[in-house]
Amino acid sequence: MILRAEEVYVLAARVLTEERLKHTLGVADWAEDLARHHGLDPVKARCAALAHDLAKGIPIKDQLSLARRWNLLKYPEDELYPYVLHGSLAAYWLEHYFGVDDTEVLAAVASHTLGRPGMSPLEMVIYSADLTEPSRDFPEVDKLRQSLYDDLEKGTFECVKGTLIYLRESNHPIHPLTQLTYEDLQRRQTIGTGSEKA
Ligand SMILES: [Fe+2]
Ligand SMILES: [Fe+2]
Repeated sequence: MILRAEEVYVLAARVLTEERLKHTLGVADWAEDLARHHGLDPVKARCAALAHDLAKGIPIKDQLSLARRWNLLKYPEDELYPYVLHGSLAAYWLEHYFGVDDTEVLAAVASHTLGRPGMSPLEMVIYSADLTEPSRDFPEVDKLRQSLYDDLEKGTFECVKGTLIYLRESNHPIHPLTQLTYEDLQRRQTIGTGSEKA
């Protein structure tokens, strides 16, 4: 099935609150821009961005029971902090109820909250655009935006690093996947990942 941004938009507009739809459209514009700039598919980026928070409005206890039913609980922390589940729930929902079979888009939706080791460029775009979309306002956000434009992988590494620092300083729990994502990107920064750096 070919994903059309207009159709994902209609779905998003139907299920999201006004505020979350505004955030989602900000992510969509910024993700599309980043994708185009880095030679990725802008339509996939827009579709993944429009879909990324589709499950966020589901009450937390229902998110948890759906995740249990759909076998999406992978870490003890998933149950302890179920607000991290909405990405994988949305991806599952899109795949099994809407027939979306684009694995790149599904992965980008699923990993947008926590990241994962070995993220693809599209996953990095969605993860980072979620954090730095135009309505986000925190110190260093402009620096992160520029960094993402200059070098997607390095910019994403800085986004994950900033998230970890924020979580630590505010005494929030750190999910093992975010820690693993940080270590993976750090390693990729050090040793390089691709032929362009060889
Ligand atoms: Fe989210
Ligand atoms: Fe979001």
